[in-house]
Amino acid sequence: MERRLTSRAGREELRTKGTDVRAVTKVAAIGGGVIGGGWIARFLLNGVDVAVHDPHPQAERIVTEILANAERAYCRLLLAPPAPQGRLSFHAGIAEAVEGAGYVQESVPERLGIKLEVLRAIEDAAPAEALIGSSTSGFRPSELQAGLRTPERVFVAHPFNPVYLLPLVELVGGAATAPAALARAGAFLTTVGMHPLVVRKEIDAHIADRLLEAVWREGLWLIHDDVATTAEVDDAIRFGFGLRWAQMGLFETYRIAGGEAGMRHFIGQFGPALAWPWTKLMDVPELTDDLVEKIASQSDAQSGARPIRELERIRDDNLVGILQALKATGWGAGETLRAMEDRAYARAHAGAGAADPDLTRPLTLHRAQVRGDWVDYNGHMTEFRYLQVFGDATDAFLAFIGMDAAYRAAGGSVYTVETHIRHLRETRAGAKLAVATRILGHDAKRIRLLHALTDEAGTELATAEHMLLHVDAGAGRAAPMRAPLDARVAGIWRAQQGLPRPDHVGRGIRETG
Ligand SMILES: NC(=O)c1ccc[n+]([C@@H]2O[C@H](COP(=O)([O-])OP(=O)(O)OC[C@H]3O[C@@H](n4cnc5c(N)ncnc54)[C@H](O)[C@@H]3O)[C@@H](O)[C@H]2O)c1
Repeated sequence: MERRLTSRAGREELRTKGTDVRAVTKVAAIGGGVIGGGWIARFLLNGVDVAVHDPHPQAERIVTEILANAERAYCRLLLAPPAPQGRLSFHAGIAEAVEGAGYVQESVPERLGIKLEVLRAIEDAAPAEALIGSSTSGFRPSELQAGLRTPERVFVAHPFNPVYLLPLVELVGGAATAPAALARAGAFLTTVGMHPLVVRKEIDAHIADRLLEAVWREGLWLIHDDVATTAEVDDAIRFGFGLRWAQMGLFETYRIAGGEAGMRHFIGQFGPALAWPWTKLMDVPELTDDLVEKIASQSDAQSGARPIRELERIRDDNLVGILQALKATGWGAGETLRAMEDRAYARAHAGAGAADPDLTRPLTLHRAQVRGDWVDYNGHMTEFRYLQVFGDATDAFLAFIGMDAAYRAAGGSVYTVETHIRHLRETRAGAKLAVATRILGHDAKRIRLLHALTDEAGTELATAEHMLLHVDAGAGRAAPMRAPLDARVAGIWRAQQGLPRPDHVGRGIRETG
């Protein structure tokens, strides 16, 4: 009886809260290994406090190392000002960790007994309205809900490694999960830059791991049968279809492979091949000691020279590059990254506020760190990177004055029509850069900007003066700025008028002879 009452009360709580996610400012992470650590970094770097419980004696060190890699990746990933990082705390028990949490993420080892025990302890101590997601790769949510008093708030939230970079989270409800709980979880996880994919039916291993397991099984056979080594299997993926999958997945890729005749033609041509004995189907090679040794020693020969954290950094750099390329086209995971940046700019703008006294000073809206691949043979940042950093600072300024996705969708845009960069000092690899921006002048269609680039010691390294022209991109001509840009530009200009005017502005390159 008590069970049902608690459950009904929980359902009512979920219903009345709807998809309101403002309440979630604190998350509890139960389990801080590979996946728990990735979740912790994702939440912290998106401004949410995280309380961790993990009995492993080295849990704090492991989480801290994952967080360091994640911070490094976010420096490269986001142009927008980062969210103020959430607070991280470690707790000796589940009850202490879940206290006051609006969302709990369970990431303990993939054993049903441990999961059930941990989920029971979580529901006993967590606030009634707290949502409870499990990272399980394989169990169905209904299996996890067995014996729980409040199963309506329990679901699978299955992420992908590294959780702080890959946006996909498969959300799977069980028989007892309240639809509102899944909706709230999706809304909350979207605010930390994830892409929730709600799985329509619960099955073992959800969607993505079903696909991955098919590839994994075939890979094991290819090695078992001496057709390929681990390195050759990886080459077959990364030099070819792996590149396609990151941007169009399976079906859209095959649609294109069908040429002008599209999907029907593709299935007509290649469908019959599915019946040929290409595959071992459901057979799994027995993981004998010999086969495990063969795979492990081939993997050592392939990748053993690099420690795991170094491999993680290489992986992260590659993923950041792919995500940024996708952002440029607004495709797939790039769309999620764009939305994440728009939210970060909106947050920075809300924080700065129109009445912020700092408007009277140059505005520091963009920071960057000089990457190793930004320097040329003499060890200094190469020329075009200055333009990149100043261009990013201009984008940050435009977002700050209100040029968001809606403004762009309505045709409003800004083109740079003239640039003058002065290189004052050498900028070395690793330098932490800040760009301070002021308005030198404006009219209805034009903004004249001055950026000053400094290092962490405040030394001025370069300046850039830009003339920006506001355009109606649809009509293809210059047009007056619309709200809110016009008023914000005028407001900043008024506030900054007291600043001394540097004598270099408005000058071109001097004649030499
Ligand atoms: N590794 C992946 O690629 C991956 C991807 C997606 C989902 N998952 C899922 O995430 C979960 C965790 O996997 P992992 O790879 O992070 O494993 P892991 O072994 O790296 O981490 C598990 C952590 O749980 C801790 N733990 C054990 N008992 C605990 C308890 N009672 N309370 C709190 N913490 C406890 C362990 O100390 C360990 O740090 C599994 O359900 C797995 O299926 C893993």
